[in-house]
Amino acid sequence: MEVVIVADRHEAGGLVADAIAALVERSPAPVLGLATGSTPLPVYRELARRHASGRLSLATARAFLLDEYVGLPADHPQAYRSFIRRELEAHVDFAADAVQGPDANATDIPAGCAAYEAAIRAAGGVDLQLLGIGTDGHIGFNEPGSSLASRTRIKTLTDQTRRDNSRFFASLDEVPRHVVTQGIGTILEASHLVLLSFGEAKADATARAVEGPVTAMVPASALQLHRHATVVVDEAAAADLRLADYYRETWAHKPSWQGL
Ligand code: GLP
Repeated sequence: MEVVIVADRHEAGGLVADAIAALVERSPAPVLGLATGSTPLPVYRELARRHASGRLSLATARAFLLDEYVGLPADHPQAYRSFIRRELEAHVDFAADAVQGPDANATDIPAGCAAYEAAIRAAGGVDLQLLGIGTDGHIGFNEPGSSLASRTRIKTLTDQTRRDNSRFFASLDEVPRHVVTQGIGTILEASHLVLLSFGEAKADATARAVEGPVTAMVPASALQLHRHATVVVDEAAAADLRLADYYRETWAHKPSWQGL
């Protein structure tokens, strides 16, 4: 695992956009894994900027969302499919139907989950998966206790996650209890995992994920099992990392040809 400590979200956005641009450059059919929440926004803003200035096209790319709330109408502003349309698709040039999310309103949810897994496989798998981290250590909506081998399925949110996410809704009561999320096993199949973490509220979860034991109690710790995982953190989220100086030194002396 590589840990990159950056000055701020803006720098993180640039670094990750560089990695996405490099992927788009080298692959004829790049597949992105998209995250929601506030964390990936600096990346989406940077991709939009590069597209606006003619430096980046996502016309050949496909993308799969990590997760979705159950029970929100498709056009609800907080449905993750709407979020990605608004925050990313509206500002870049994905082809029609190139972006897909799990169908959390399917009448047969398990069948919808299996179909989503099949769609990811049919696209050749995810090349670069963006991830945020919950204050309880979740990735996607894989709450503590999620099997490290889990696949796309329905999950129940913890109270902590519902409270964290209530800032996007009119009240806590409006935050759905159920979600559909790619499993940890699904996420681990992406070729490159890029987890972003910003702010002091994420410091504890980040340290447990990066330097604690691999455990289902901290779903993001599963990144330690992946051969190409990058964790990009700002100073506040890095506050509890014991090897912070080592990560800084490694990054400062990284061979320039290596990229993220
Ligand atoms: C949400 C999402 C995650 C996200 C996390 C952190 O519940 N399901 O994909 O990474 O919680 O959210 P934020 O980035 O807003 O802090």
